[in-house]
Amino acid sequence: MKILAISYSQTGQLDDILGNILSPLSDLDIDRVLIKPKKAYPFPWTASEFFDAMPETVLEEPIELYDIKFKHDFYDLIILGYQPWFLSPSLPISTLLQLAYFKKIVSETPVITIIGSRNMWINSQKSINMHIVGAGGRIIGNIPFIDKNPNLISAITILYWMLKGRKDNMLKIFPKPGVSEDDINGAKKIGLILRNNIFNNTLDDFQNQVISSGYIKISTSILFIESRAKKIFLLWARIIKKQGLNKQKRFLLVYAFIYYLIFALFVVAPIVLMVYHILVLPFTLNKINKKKYYICQNKL
Ligand SMILES: Cc1cc2nc3c(=O)[nH]c(=O)nc-3n(C[C@H](O)[C@H](O)[C@H](O)COP(=O)(O)O)c2cc1C
Repeated sequence: MKILAISYSQTGQLDDILGNILSPLSDLDIDRVLIKPKKAYPFPWTASEFFDAMPETVLEEPIELYDIKFKHDFYDLIILGYQPWFLSPSLPISTLLQLAYFKKIVSETPVITIIGSRNMWINSQKSINMHIVGAGGRIIGNIPFIDKNPNLISAITILYWMLKGRKDNMLKIFPKPGVSEDDINGAKKIGLILRNNIFNNTLDDFQNQVISSGYIKISTSILFIESRAKKIFLLWARIIKKQGLNKQKRFLLVYAFIYYLIFALFVVAPIVLMVYHILVLPFTLNKINKKKYYICQNKL
């Protein structure tokens, strides 16, 4: 069994998750490939660098990657590790998925996607699905790893992590940012489930086993936000690309986006979500649960 495990990770969080998933498979032929952008992204980011990455990320404009060397021309299984940026696949990953030679490797091959995110990955997974299916591949599993803290808390702590470069307790009172150490270490269990399925020739049942082990939980509030926010990000991305033709104009527009985002996340969303939970959710519970079931099954 030839396995390609390919990923990009800026801070190493996703590489740690993937490393743990792969550890029970170490006796198999695994080609572990790390993607490297030619122009490295800054870490820590400045606030303007961080949000300035939004338009090109959302519009999936390819960047330059260092050449990727693969051990084989074809694989029996691809494990793709990625992270969402602005509700879209990170740019190194959306670039990878647009490379003709990678599409050829994906063609007719089962793919498992592993996500290392804050908590909003549904829109980015939709895009990943489109790329993989477009290349003739087949996603047989998707496991999102998330920060399980409340949405507004994790929004603050991820910015602290990204802008200060420290994955510790902000002001000594906030929880640590990102995927918890327990969940990163616990990823080994996914590797064990995968190993069983590989050896029993039951890969098509992998996702069901992951779901019944309780690995994928979808929050109703996040589902609500994600179902609206991507369209708004796309609109902002197009405006910034079209109007931000010189550095100064772009800078102003990116700052307008930052203020919009803070207002939407911390003021509008909590009010709208409260109304939604009281007035709408009780009447649409079945529909929402069905939606969550399909998302867990990667039917997006
Ligand atoms: C520019 C940028 C945008 C991000 N946007 C999102 C997002 O939309 N949804 C989300 O869940 N996480 C988001 N994150 C967090 C990442 O998905 C990821 O969890 C974090 O960057 C650590 O990943 P790493 O393994 O690359 O270091 C974002 C991170 C960056 C740097």
